[in-house]
Amino acid sequence: MVEFATLRIDNFKSLERFDIGFSKFTCLIGLNSSGKSTVLQAIDFVSQQMHGDITGWLGDRNWEVKELKSKLTDKRLIEITVAFVYHEDIYEWNLKFNPVLKKCTYENIVKYGPFPIIKNIFEVKDSKYMIMKDLETDEKLTGDIIQDYEGSFLASLKNEFLPLPIKEFKIYIQNIYSLDLISPQELRKRSRVGSKLGLSGANLSAFLNTFTEEQKDKMLQQLQKCYPNLDALEIKKSKGGWSRLELVEKFGDKKMSNEAKYLNDGILRLIAILAQLQSQKSFLLFDEIENGINAELIEYLMDTLIASKHQVMITTHSPMILNYIDDDIAMKSVKYIYKTKEGFTKSIPLFDIPSMQEKLEMMGAGSAYVDTNLDKLLEEIETLKVEE
Ligand SMILES: Nc1ncnc2c1ncn2[C@@H]1O[C@H](COP(=O)(O)OP(=O)(O)O)[C@@H](O)[C@H]1O
Ligand SMILES: [Mg+2]
Repeated sequence: MVEFATLRIDNFKSLERFDIGFSKFTCLIGLNSSGKSTVLQAIDFVSQQMHGDITGWLGDRNWEVKELKSKLTDKRLIEITVAFVYHEDIYEWNLKFNPVLKKCTYENIVKYGPFPIIKNIFEVKDSKYMIMKDLETDEKLTGDIIQDYEGSFLASLKNEFLPLPIKEFKIYIQNIYSLDLISPQELRKRSRVGSKLGLSGANLSAFLNTFTEEQKDKMLQQLQKCYPNLDALEIKKSKGGWSRLELVEKFGDKKMSNEAKYLNDGILRLIAILAQLQSQKSFLLFDEIENGINAELIEYLMDTLIASKHQVMITTHSPMILNYIDDDIAMKSVKYIYKTKEGFTKSIPLFDIPSMQEKLEMMGAGSAYVDTNLDKLLEEIETLKVEE
């Protein structure tokens, strides 16, 4: 029962003192290059802290560590604060990531409560750690950090030594998955190993192969809503442990089977998205959700994402997608991502802006956005900040 409530990140690419809140469903909209994908990358970076393999993650993304920091400031550390809710209590995880050492040199988790107001339940400072084993008795483990690690110190700790809220939070953060690099080319390939979908979409067939019959059925039913002729999804095995995905279609009494490499981008992306929804409950991030997917299918996909068990965040440059979101959800879940004159990415709930709020009374969220002059909107946002 964990929910990722807010993120503050400073000095990560174009995100400088960047704040954003998440609800069960969040949609980022904004111009090209405003920093939407960067927000997904930042959350993926946060997730990677709990896996503790920053080198591997940079390799997967083909990034150098120096690319992580903002090129517009000369700050040394990347600072992160994640607020999360666990069984109605609010916690905050604070990190200072040193890109040179690829680890967090300072870290803590605090619990907010009526009493005490703030309780430190985990801390790493000056190469020493403190972790509260039992939040009732305040029993602590402390010691010097003598091992090498990357990311968060929590990544290197066995879960059995963590108090329940931290353990559950760690697992939730580890299971965050961002599809911001997904490439149909990778989805088409056969695969051999992998219980997870690769960042670029690699291992799709191996990933599907780990599914239970129930999960496969659920996915097939969802796909059939979009492709009524679809009859089955099959994973075919060949020598050397390779597997490949085949789709069986039925027309009248004739069936035909097509290997993934012959399928279109849209259906492959849809399969990857629906497959990811079957994974352990967490926070799933889908970049440019509408890519390759027919307009008629988008409404169904949006409904499925909003109704899923996961926390979900999407980005889009297709404002019409917003028309498929109910006004009450749109009010809190649509975030406008924009760049300041200085080149920093900022986020504001789109319908917190008075002129946008007014429009929402008369038209759908998507039409309200299309109807807006974004330069004027920026001016309006600037005046809001002055008033604060
Ligand atoms: N290290 C960095 N420091 C500052 N700004 C950066 C850095 N890396 C990328 N950017 C900025 O971020 C932009 C890319 O943002 P991106 O997230 O891809 O936008 P979107 O997904 O909204 O199109 C680049 O055009 C560049 O201006
Ligand atoms: Mg992008």
